[in-house]
Amino acid sequence: MALPKINPTTTQAWKKLQEHHQNTKDTHLRELFADDTDRGPKFTLEWGDFLVDYSKNRITSETISLLMELAEEVDLKAAISSYFGGDAINQTEGRGVLHTALRAKQGDEVFVDRKNVVPEVYAVKEKIKGFTEEIISGKRTGFTNKAFTDVVNIGIGGSDLGPAMVTEALSYYKNHLKTHFVSNVDGDHVQEVLKELNPETTLFVVVSKTFTTQETLSNALTIKEWFLQKASEQDIALHFAAVSTNTEKIAEFGIDAANVFPMWDWVGGRFSLWSAVGLSIALAVGFENFDELLSGAHGMDEHFRNTPFEANIPVILAMLSVWYNNFYGAETEAIIPYSQYLSRFSAYLQQGIMESNGKSMDRAGNRTSYETGTIIWGEPGTNSQHAFFQLIHQGTKLIPADFIGFKESLHGNVDHHNKLMANFFAQTEALMNGKTPEEVKRELEQQNLSQEQLESLLPFKVFEGNKPTNTLLLKKLNPKNLGALIALYEHKIFVQGIIWNIFSYDQWGVELGKQLAKTILTEIENSTIGNHDSSTLHLLQKFKK
Ligand code: F6P
Repeated sequence: MALPKINPTTTQAWKKLQEHHQNTKDTHLRELFADDTDRGPKFTLEWGDFLVDYSKNRITSETISLLMELAEEVDLKAAISSYFGGDAINQTEGRGVLHTALRAKQGDEVFVDRKNVVPEVYAVKEKIKGFTEEIISGKRTGFTNKAFTDVVNIGIGGSDLGPAMVTEALSYYKNHLKTHFVSNVDGDHVQEVLKELNPETTLFVVVSKTFTTQETLSNALTIKEWFLQKASEQDIALHFAAVSTNTEKIAEFGIDAANVFPMWDWVGGRFSLWSAVGLSIALAVGFENFDELLSGAHGMDEHFRNTPFEANIPVILAMLSVWYNNFYGAETEAIIPYSQYLSRFSAYLQQGIMESNGKSMDRAGNRTSYETGTIIWGEPGTNSQHAFFQLIHQGTKLIPADFIGFKESLHGNVDHHNKLMANFFAQTEALMNGKTPEEVKRELEQQNLSQEQLESLLPFKVFEGNKPTNTLLLKKLNPKNLGALIALYEHKIFVQGIIWNIFSYDQWGVELGKQLAKTILTEIENSTIGNHDSSTLHLLQKFKK
């Protein structure tokens, strides 16, 4: 079934939300907490190892009811069944969106063109299992019979960010294999990585859904040439694997069919780490941990599919984001994990969220009259506290933020973990409460200042507070919880796309730059420079000189 084409601003709920916003926008979070001593637990959801406290948001129970009404009115329920059911909801590319099928349980049935795809998914998983076990154990060796020590993932966008983020996030669970990522077409990137490698003990995994991406093919060719300085053509079969839907192009490149891992066009690049695109994850942490990651994501899929909206974590987080984006005019959202392991998490979500919901055409092909995709940014705490938190606390912009923390540290350094988490809790409290002029005054009065000094300093030390945050407190950073956390954001993306009446699963916006780059490359390499605006023309002339 096609997704409905409901302009959200025409719904009853939208109108009610506008009115509700007018009536509540000046209420400070401090007042909301003072009025209801039970507010924290009241706006908290618990599921498995997850606790999500969304009480520090500018909401009342009525806000939540109205947001849920909006979700009902745009028919989110039916959209969720289309999503899981494999309908071609990626309409502009004529495809289903079934990354959820990649983590389905064996024996489940998910149909694409009347064919159950779960057996194929499991066949590829078996292949990943066998391959990774042979590489990790040293059973499979390189061209000089030595065991592999290094793995290089060659890919970009969804063929890089997911595996890179997850391998970093699961460093604690890593085996002896060192993983490297080459993505940028910047030749200095690949050269820096190659500097560290021995061709005799390195496995290269070329990951490209289309196998036509300029960056990936250039890097793969450069690496192949480097490899062939020491090895022969037939050794490629021992050292190169590929993940793609394009088997023809892989064969042209010379990779042995036995080392080819298929993927499917119903898996979007930015949602593909659950497929063989995650091969370097499975190599780095072992197949069992990879499977745990998938099982965590499956758990979140089930929660999302089966839980009433008001207790549904992805739905609540998505609707809160809509609340700020469309009623408060917030343009960005920060994602702040209090774990150094998650240092690539917001970079990963930038693709997931912004490539999906950065759209201005609605599903009927009309320009939206309302805001859509939020700008995502963030860095781990506590580092970010010493970098950009000043702006969140005292700047002019409203920046809702997700704080993600863990009850347990992995290495068990209690002293450090307590300090880390003290900062985690302190920041959301500070952002919510702020510091009133009266409080600042009382503090300054202790400091032996003249009245004049006190008065001139006071305004700079006031914190307005009233800054919204969600607190996601998880038990422990393990593969299962990480899988569930990623899936949570995937479903948040989906819900927001449905509300905004846009197509979240295409990415036409990346094409124009690619096309122009092709033309400009020929102009740089051979011919004369063609027609360009005076700025681009002048720049090209200066570059070629
Ligand atoms: O940047 C556009 C994009 O198509 C992404 O959606 C995708 O993840 C990336 O390029 C890489 O594509 P491929 O896996 O086909 O090389």
